[in-house]
Amino acid sequence: MNSYWLSSCKINSNKSIDDNYIADICIIGAGICGLSTAYYLSKSGLKVVVVDKDNIGQKTSGHTTAKITLQHGLIYDYLINSFGLEFALGYFEANKQAINNIKKIIDLENINCDFSNQDNFIYTTHQHDLTKIYNEIKAVNTLDNYSNFIDSNILNNNNYANFVSDIKLPFKVCGAIKTKNQAQFHPVKYMLGLEKALKNNGALIFTNSLVKDVQKCNDEYICYCENYAVKSKYVVIATHYPFINFPGFYFSKMYQSTSYVVAIENETPPFNGMYINTCDPVLSFRTADYKGKQLLIMSGGDHKTGYSPESEDTFGYKYLENQAKKYYPNSNVLYKWNTRDCITLDKIPYIGEFSSFMPNTFVATGFNKWGMTSSNVAANIIAGKILKKLDFKSSDYADINFMNELIDFSDKYAYVFDSSRLSPIKNRSEVKNMIQQVFKSFVSNRIKIPEENLNKIQKDNGAIIRINGTAVGIYKDTRGKVYAVNPTCTHLGCLLTWNNVDKTWDCPCHGSRFDYTGKNLYDPAFKNLETYGE
Ligand code: FES
Repeated sequence: MNSYWLSSCKINSNKSIDDNYIADICIIGAGICGLSTAYYLSKSGLKVVVVDKDNIGQKTSGHTTAKITLQHGLIYDYLINSFGLEFALGYFEANKQAINNIKKIIDLENINCDFSNQDNFIYTTHQHDLTKIYNEIKAVNTLDNYSNFIDSNILNNNNYANFVSDIKLPFKVCGAIKTKNQAQFHPVKYMLGLEKALKNNGALIFTNSLVKDVQKCNDEYICYCENYAVKSKYVVIATHYPFINFPGFYFSKMYQSTSYVVAIENETPPFNGMYINTCDPVLSFRTADYKGKQLLIMSGGDHKTGYSPESEDTFGYKYLENQAKKYYPNSNVLYKWNTRDCITLDKIPYIGEFSSFMPNTFVATGFNKWGMTSSNVAANIIAGKILKKLDFKSSDYADINFMNELIDFSDKYAYVFDSSRLSPIKNRSEVKNMIQQVFKSFVSNRIKIPEENLNKIQKDNGAIIRINGTAVGIYKDTRGKVYAVNPTCTHLGCLLTWNNVDKTWDCPCHGSRFDYTGKNLYDPAFKNLETYGE
């Protein structure tokens, strides 16, 4: 089964790159972030080319739960305590503005994408998590009051976030944060609306065109695809995971997490609102319009990509299907899909200059499962940075006020998401985990691979075995056909692990994934695995 978002829209193919092009900006990646950035820049009158190895929105953007909220889990108490009030305020305001910006684009471009305002709830079923809930409410309201006070000089006593204990979920909770005026939409319909708008602005989109390399040439860049290239002064890498390893070193600052989604049809109409819990296993809910009715979208069961928890009861589709059966015994699962997110160690996205060694190249990554507002924040910051470098007072450029708004946004908030930050990471337990896991993959797995016999691999299962001292990744399909690959990740050489839920080879280091035939599915690797024949 596939993503409901992708299955419920007709996505026409754009053509593959068919010539060499010259542009002001080459944007690599046609997900929601790349398209949003292209939208702002093309609307500013600049010549934009977007290139993607797949069609529009085929990766994380087409597999998200598409909640448009500034409440990125219990983030604000953490930000205030780790980085101070002013910094937390920047994160809060940028994301709050992003909700309005998305609505503004939808209205302006007349995009029919099932947008609706919703309250967001973070709930807990554990008494011991209530303190975290209270602290977060206090943090959110402090930031909101502070923000309103700066804007209007008025102290506002209407709380943005409130404590509630009676919510619409089909089980009892100990308490929840209710954050009002958040939103949800259909992400693929939104992206198709962006696509139309930016084409109207003169931008070019090439899909099924893999950018293999970016080379500096005097003060411009050349983005090389297989047979053709795009030459531009500015490059934006909006590929979910930056595919250039050096410089940048983003692979050392993030890991990937896989989460699962099921969309169910139920006899009784589901509730409004968007919900997520405070702890593992993650369980989140929202609804979506479906043929005049409503689908209930449940997601969660997350795990670090390349590391599956011991028990299938706490992760993946099985976990979600069990929850659906428990609370909605007569429901049908109509769609199921999984997605991956880049998780940064300090919980803040990387947005801005890619590296000081590649001036005029920008990056947006590490959205930590909150890509809807984060991608709009990134688009504003990057567009603002590029516009600031241009002399846009010339008559060639479009609406000066529009461009000044982008620059103001960037000037105000870019420092919060600074992609070149080297500040000590506060989230030390994550750093420790990541280092241990990368080390384990490079070293321990290589010398402790069990000597398994091919016959011991059951049908519809996979494993790594040793053949003449060489590690070989074997998958045996339901009929017993064997697929053998070199289980060494084509990104930076970590040993892959078998994921029997999705029948994929997953990398525990930075989260690349390959299907059982060795075909690359997800970056940062972009080459297929070596195969050993049948
Ligand atoms: Fe980096 Fe595999 S994704 S080594």
